Amino acid sequence: MEPFRFHLFVCTQQKPEGVTSCTARGSLDVLDELDRQIREHGLSDAVQLTTCGCMGLCDDGPVMVVYPEGVWYRRVQPSDVSEIVELHLGHEEPVERLVWGDASAMKAMAVDHGEKFRAAMEARDKAGTLPEHLNQLIRGYMPSRCLLSALELDLFTAVGDGASAEQVGVKIKASAPATAMLLNALVALGLLSKSGETYRNKRESGRFFVQGSKDNHRNGLLHNANIWHRWSTLTEAVRRGGSIPIDRARTPEWTKDFIAGMQHHAKDRAPHVVNALGAANVRRILDLGGGSGIYSIAFAKANPEVKCEVLDLPEVVPLTTDYVNRAGVQAQVSIRAGDMLHDDFGSGYDIIMLNAICHMFSEEQNRYIFRRAREALAPNGRLVVQDFILNPDKTGPLHAVLFSINMLVGTESGASYSEPEYRLWMEGAGLSEVRRINLPGPSDLMVGVAK
Ligand SMILES: C[S@@+](CC[C@H](N)C(=O)[O-])C[C@H]1O[C@@H](n2cnc3c(N)ncnc32)[C@H](O)[C@@H]1O
Ligand code: FES
Repeated sequence: MEPFRFHLFVCTQQKPEGVTSCTARGSLDVLDELDRQIREHGLSDAVQLTTCGCMGLCDDGPVMVVYPEGVWYRRVQPSDVSEIVELHLGHEEPVERLVWGDASAMKAMAVDHGEKFRAAMEARDKAGTLPEHLNQLIRGYMPSRCLLSALELDLFTAVGDGASAEQVGVKIKASAPATAMLLNALVALGLLSKSGETYRNKRESGRFFVQGSKDNHRNGLLHNANIWHRWSTLTEAVRRGGSIPIDRARTPEWTKDFIAGMQHHAKDRAPHVVNALGAANVRRILDLGGGSGIYSIAFAKANPEVKCEVLDLPEVVPLTTDYVNRAGVQAQVSIRAGDMLHDDFGSGYDIIMLNAICHMFSEEQNRYIFRRAREALAPNGRLVVQDFILNPDKTGPLHAVLFSINMLVGTESGASYSEPEYRLWMEGAGLSEVRRINLPGPSDLMVGVAK
C-alpha cells in the first residue's frame, strides 16, 4: 500500500573530498529545488520527498528514483526540476531524456561500485588509515568557525540579494581577498551559491541569517560565537577542574547576545512548559534567573490572573524590562534585581521556576536554592526545574553531555545533572511527588510539590 501518489528518493550521500558522489555533483541543490517546487505546485500531499544513501551509481549522479513506478533519473540538475515536477509529478509523464532505463547496466554498475567500495575500505583498514568519521570529528571546528565568523561579520546580510566579494568586503569592512576566501568556503558548505563573481544566499541562509528577515536568528546565534573562546580553554579547564579566566570580559554586548540566545532557544519551549504545568489555578510565580522573562510572559499570556516576578542580576534587568514591555504584559510581570544565591525569595508562590539555571551551579548551591525555594512556596506550590537532564550514568544524551562541558569551560562549578540527582535534591529539600515531565526538544522538567 502506498500512502502517497509518488515517493521520491534523492541520493544525498556525502563522500570524502575528491570522491565522486551525488552531493559533490549538486544533489542537495536538486533536493532544495524539488522541495520548493513541490510546495509551490501544491503537491505536498501527493508527493513524499525523501533523501537516501548511495545507490552505487555515483558516476551518473545526482541520482533520484520515483516510486511506485520505479523510474530512475540520472545526472539531474536543479534546472531539470521544473520539468520533473510539471511533467512527471503533475501529468504522470516521466521526463524521458533523464530516465535511466537500462536495468542490467545499472545493476552491473552498482555491483561493481559495491565491490570497489569494499576493496577500498579493506585497503584503508589494512594501511591503518584514519577512518573518515574520525577525520570529520577532528576537523568539525572548521565549518563551525566559518559560519560563526560569517555571523559575527554579518556577512549574509552583506550578501543580500547578490554581491561580489569586493562589495561584501566593503560592507563588512574587511579585506576583499580574505572575504572572497570565506565566501568561497560558505559556498562549499552549501550556505551560499556563486555564479560568475556574484554570491547569493541559499534559501536557509537568507531566511535565518539575514537582518530584516522575519525568521532571522543571527542575534540569538551570536552567543555561540562568544562561547567559542571559552571552549578553546577546555584542555586547561580539565587540568584545573574548573573554568579558566579569559581576557574577554563580559561586556554589555555579551550579556545582550546571551539573553537573546536564551530567548531564541526558549521561544518555542515556553508554550510547552505552560501546557505541561497548567496555568489555570496559578496565581503567583517566581521566575529565578528569568533572563528575557520568556516563561513568565508565556504564563501571563495564558492566564490574566497570574502575577509573575522575575529575579535576575542587575545588568540583565533592563533587558528583561524591554522584553516584558514589548510583550505588553508589564501589569502582570514585575522584575527584581537580585542574586538568587543571597537575596530573599519572598513567600507564597504557587510555582517557582528554575529554567536553565541549575546547570550554572554546583550541587551544594543547587541544594541551597532548592531548600530556600521550598520555604518560599505556598502549600501545594511546585518547584520546577527545566534543564538538559543526563542519563543516570551521565554518558548521554549527547547534547546534555556536551552542555556539561560548556559549563565546565564557562562557569566556576556548573554542570549538567541527572534525574536521580535532581530527585535527591528535591526530596532532600522536603519536596514530595517528585516527577519528570518530558518536553518536546532537548530539555525536560523536574517537578516537586511542597506539601
Ligand atoms: C541560562 S540563563 C536562563 C534564562 C531564562 N531562565 C531562560 O530559560 O530563558 C541564566 C539566567 O540566570 C541569571 N543569573 C545567573 N546567576 C544569577 C544569580 N546569582 N542570581 C540571579 N540570576 C542569575 C542570568 O543573568 C541569566 O538571565
Ligand atoms: S553517491 Fe549517490 S549513487 Fe552513490
